Amino acid sequence: DAHLIEEAKATLIKNDLGGYTVPTHGLYPFQWNWDSAIVALGWLPFDEPRAWEETTSLLSAQWKSGMVPHVVFHKHSDTYFPGPDIWGVQNSPDSTSITQPPVLASVIKILFEETEDRALAESQIKTIVPQLIDYHLWWYKQRDPENTGLVVSYHPWESGMDNSPAWDAALEAVPCVDWEYTRRDTSHIDASERPHKKEYDRFLYLVDFFRKMNFDDTLIYQDCPYRVNDVSIISILHRATKDLLTLCEKIGVSNDQTAYLVKRLDLTEGAISKLWCSETNMFHSFDTRSNTMCKARTSAGLLPFFAGLVSEQQTQPLISVLDKWLEHSTYAISSTHPDDPNYEPQRYWRGPIWIHINWMIAIGLEDYGFSQQAQRITEGSRACIYKSGFNESFHAETGARSGGADFSWTAAMALYWLL
Ligand code: DGY
Repeated sequence: DAHLIEEAKATLIKNDLGGYTVPTHGLYPFQWNWDSAIVALGWLPFDEPRAWEETTSLLSAQWKSGMVPHVVFHKHSDTYFPGPDIWGVQNSPDSTSITQPPVLASVIKILFEETEDRALAESQIKTIVPQLIDYHLWWYKQRDPENTGLVVSYHPWESGMDNSPAWDAALEAVPCVDWEYTRRDTSHIDASERPHKKEYDRFLYLVDFFRKMNFDDTLIYQDCPYRVNDVSIISILHRATKDLLTLCEKIGVSNDQTAYLVKRLDLTEGAISKLWCSETNMFHSFDTRSNTMCKARTSAGLLPFFAGLVSEQQTQPLISVLDKWLEHSTYAISSTHPDDPNYEPQRYWRGPIWIHINWMIAIGLEDYGFSQQAQRITEGSRACIYKSGFNESFHAETGARSGGADFSWTAAMALYWLL
């Protein structure tokens, strides 16, 4: 392991652009929101100030509304499309106009609890906690203005699970963008491991749409042709809000805002059964435009464990699904269930194994007392890294590399969780 640990550190150092870490050079040459949160955990064991800095550089791009963008364009790069000119946001630093799964507060809680430099932790937390509160308030108020208990997402890029089969039907309702463009991703990675053009056409339509709406939260909520209750975002947000409130308690922050967040947790707990399907015995996302469930069986459907949102009655059926899934898997949990008709073991979020998702599922299973399954997932994740190194993701069946190489969040998970 000593050699792998050194390699993982070297990967983060290589991807460090000074205060933030790119997911990988070329394919993703900027700062990504949930990548950076996970990456902070990788810096934690060997450079605590740098771990904090990863999070504060991300928060430096927070919008006045509280939103924390999905990509921050700190420095120019021409290896990525769509860049800041296409998003059309005029902020400093430049950013996209959407967000990503808000795992950040859960990470900050870990940094606060596990870093040795207490003076640094105490001083960081003073500025970070109010920013996190603003971010979470933004999520609930702007993404669930009707108080349904379930926030919405406006773009598959917000889920981070870009081409998950869960989005197929909802995306069909989105028009195609009417201008020609040149993708850059497929010049770095084989097209068989990336989304199709029909998906990109719609991804870009939505980017244009946000700009045409002048990024107005209310207008977008009303008119966005893609509007989904994403079970992964909802679960990650729920866990992160609980972690944020625990942190607030520890540092003695208690006010109207924290009381409001407590109420929001209750609302979500009362609403989550809308995402449970008694035919598949899993959780699914929900398309609020067509009022239908996104029936694909994906790893997102296991994340309610991470959130503590699985009820007593749902626990055994969901564990049975998980056990069968693991029986099929030499490695860890694939992003799409092998029996799903749209499963593709090598294509991005339609099959490959993503280590940080497995980490969250394993934490959730431990919380629910299913240590054996959590252990099995941990070992399978470790086996991917032993076999193929620090890749973006791993072929669902062979554990071979898939997506980008020298990938920060996989190296970070190795350093924090697996090695
Ligand atoms: C991409 O460009 O592939 C990213 O996933 C967007 O976040």
